Amino acid sequence: MQYEGKVVLVTGAAGGIGRAATKAFYEQGAKLVLVDLSKEALDMMSDELGLDSDRSVVIAADVSQEAAVEGFVQATVATFGRIDVFFNNAGVEGKTGLLVDTSEETVDKLLSVNIKGCFFGLKHVLRQMTAQAGGAVVNTSSMAGLIGFHSLGVYTASKHAVIGLTRAAASEVAPHGIRVNAVCPGPVDTRMMRGIESGFSEADPVGVKGQFENLTGLKRYAQPEEIADLVLFLGSDKASYITGSMYTIDGGMTGM
Ligand SMILES: NC(=O)c1ccc[n+]([C@@H]2O[C@H](COP(=O)([O-])OP(=O)(O)OC[C@H]3O[C@@H](n4cnc5c(N)ncnc54)[C@H](O)[C@@H]3O)[C@@H](O)[C@H]2O)c1
Repeated sequence: MQYEGKVVLVTGAAGGIGRAATKAFYEQGAKLVLVDLSKEALDMMSDELGLDSDRSVVIAADVSQEAAVEGFVQATVATFGRIDVFFNNAGVEGKTGLLVDTSEETVDKLLSVNIKGCFFGLKHVLRQMTAQAGGAVVNTSSMAGLIGFHSLGVYTASKHAVIGLTRAAASEVAPHGIRVNAVCPGPVDTRMMRGIESGFSEADPVGVKGQFENLTGLKRYAQPEEIADLVLFLGSDKASYITGSMYTIDGGMTGM
């Protein structure tokens, strides 16, 4: 129960990785504020996971809107008094395609959710963590934050930006005892990979999945629970000397 009494804020909570992290934080005793676009999806997840309303609150909000982010940060503090861990995780993959075929609309969407969303979360949560003199943030980047990812060029740029924000934020808040790190997953078995697989080939998404699996050393996708384990470690006191770091978790896809 290493999160007993801790307050954890999760964005993209109703998605694959967010849900796995929510379940793991809850099982470790955390009080949770869960943010995603759809209240219905959050309510359904809460019911399925059996989350107690004394220990969890759901908020429908769009992370690309600063007022909405400020609102859910304030609501977290009003409800539970502080924020110990922020899992800044909401993201979109955008439309798959070569850079030369990418529309301005795709660029705007990716930059507003993946970069502005990450930034607004940092801005408002770090103000609170600075006031309370402590906390830990885990941003979700991607292996696409570390290498050039074919046909996901602007997604790649947005996840490189998450690493830049992680490093800059870590340097600014370290004197206040706040740690900021990022996880960089390879392919994870969630809705997002279904979107990417069909973006590469509408006719044969299963074939694309096989090709991605073959690109990993372990010859499989990660399960979202495996990413959650790393997030819980980085948010915990066991990671007390880790900040400004990027944790690759990709089954060997980029490192061997
Ligand atoms: N699945 C993968 O292979 C993979 C790999 C590396 C990184 N990631 C990153 O992990 C994070 C979680 O992705 P996932 O795999 O769970 O995908 P997912 O699509 O299952 O979950 C993403 C969640 O974010 C929410 N979201 C999207 N835009 C939002 C917005 N504007 N405001 C609030 N919520 C919003 C979605 O509703 C969804 O529930 C993303 O940042 C993604 O880029 C995923």
